[in-house]
Amino acid sequence: MPHLWSGRFDEEPDPSVFSYGVSLGFDRQLFEEDVTGSLAWAEAIARAGAISEADAAAIAAGLAAILEAGRRDPAFVNGPDEDIHAFVERQLVERIGDAGKRLHTGRSRNEQVSLDLRLYLKTHIAQLMARVGRLVAALAHQAGICGGAVLPSYTHLRRAQPILAAHFFLAHAAAFRRDYDRFVRAMDEADAMPLGSGAIAGTTYAVDTRALADRLGFSRVVANSLDASSDRDFVATFLYACSLTMVHLSRLAEDVIIFTSEEFGFFELPDRFATGSSLMPQKKNPDPMELARGKSGRVVGRLVGWLTTMKGLPSGYNRDLQEDKEAVFEAEATLAASLDATAPVVAGLRLHADRAALAASGVLLATDVADYLVARNVPFREAHAIVGAMVRFLVSAGRDFSSLSLEEWQRFSDRFGPDVIGAITPAASVAAKRTPQSTNPDAVAAALAEVVLWLTQAGK
Ligand code: ARG
Repeated sequence: MPHLWSGRFDEEPDPSVFSYGVSLGFDRQLFEEDVTGSLAWAEAIARAGAISEADAAAIAAGLAAILEAGRRDPAFVNGPDEDIHAFVERQLVERIGDAGKRLHTGRSRNEQVSLDLRLYLKTHIAQLMARVGRLVAALAHQAGICGGAVLPSYTHLRRAQPILAAHFFLAHAAAFRRDYDRFVRAMDEADAMPLGSGAIAGTTYAVDTRALADRLGFSRVVANSLDASSDRDFVATFLYACSLTMVHLSRLAEDVIIFTSEEFGFFELPDRFATGSSLMPQKKNPDPMELARGKSGRVVGRLVGWLTTMKGLPSGYNRDLQEDKEAVFEAEATLAASLDATAPVVAGLRLHADRAALAASGVLLATDVADYLVARNVPFREAHAIVGAMVRFLVSAGRDFSSLSLEEWQRFSDRFGPDVIGAITPAASVAAKRTPQSTNPDAVAAALAEVVLWLTQAGK
């Protein structure tokens, strides 16, 4: 088979070394984008007077037929070609002859591949954002049904202070909303049209790049042809957005794994999301959450791998850049599948409110006792020491604040009055919080309402 560059060489490419560079096996995923870009390019060079209107019309018809063939049978997009660009061009020339040979006038695969990937990301980032939105909706659903139920919160994985269970779900929702915004920015970075850059120095034909950008749905044109030929920052930004979303999924998964364990038991994992053991009959394992946690490694690996590939490249296109596509496709597929598996698991969690409330009681109310003393004019540092001594006593006696008589309270400080009895509870603890970002029930209700509003905007 003649190659795109056959005129230059005396020898045919070595088959096995040539196959090392073949990317059609994966860049065939850019088939639609490649055809779309070529259609727009043919129109643009016809308008610039570089090819005739008749040739442009023949190219358009040929490309439409190729697109149709590929849509009808995905197996059509296959062959001995080096990449998707060579595949489409060969198909076109086979169909329409000489006119097809004029399509590549003033254009390079270097800008074509950048265009295709940018087009691909613009569509596919939107799909990932919709998936992130569905996970946020599942978290908001849980926050909505938890009511006033409480959980212990943890620092250092040691019980810290009571929080509303809704606050826990909304905490994860906050992280995924940042991911959503990060994808908006990743999409914006991909949203620059590179055609007109030529192989590296620009193109000789008076192509209206602004019109081409409009035609292809880009908001702007790249600023510099040399930069454009090697710029894959938008890939790194995308992989970072995917990686951080996977990290958030991993952390959510870890919470679900812990909180549904026998030891914590705050939530029940529905059987339909659990896996049993081939040997141990009692087991109910949270495999989907473990997989979401585990697969974060692949996506972070793709980011690190891609940054390593970009580092040290000289200016201009280098073939190393071909590594971008598998990184994008794998990160995207892994994240999409992980989001889709996590959302129903989250939505299906059932709260064991009694068990969670019990764990949110006891000495983790110590800060509230200290605040009681502060309200009675004890300096906080002193209050901390007084309550620290109380905790030491209670822990060694296997008791907690709720078991203390007034006389016992007052043994630690004469500022304790009868109103302390029954006042130190998880519900009082959360109600006492005052800031908008706190676990105060009114603040949590407002935060949930804000998330629900966000979800309804733009139909997330
Ligand atoms: N398959 C190539 C890639 O993915 C397309 C660009 C090829 N350009 C070149 N000069 N060999 O980057």
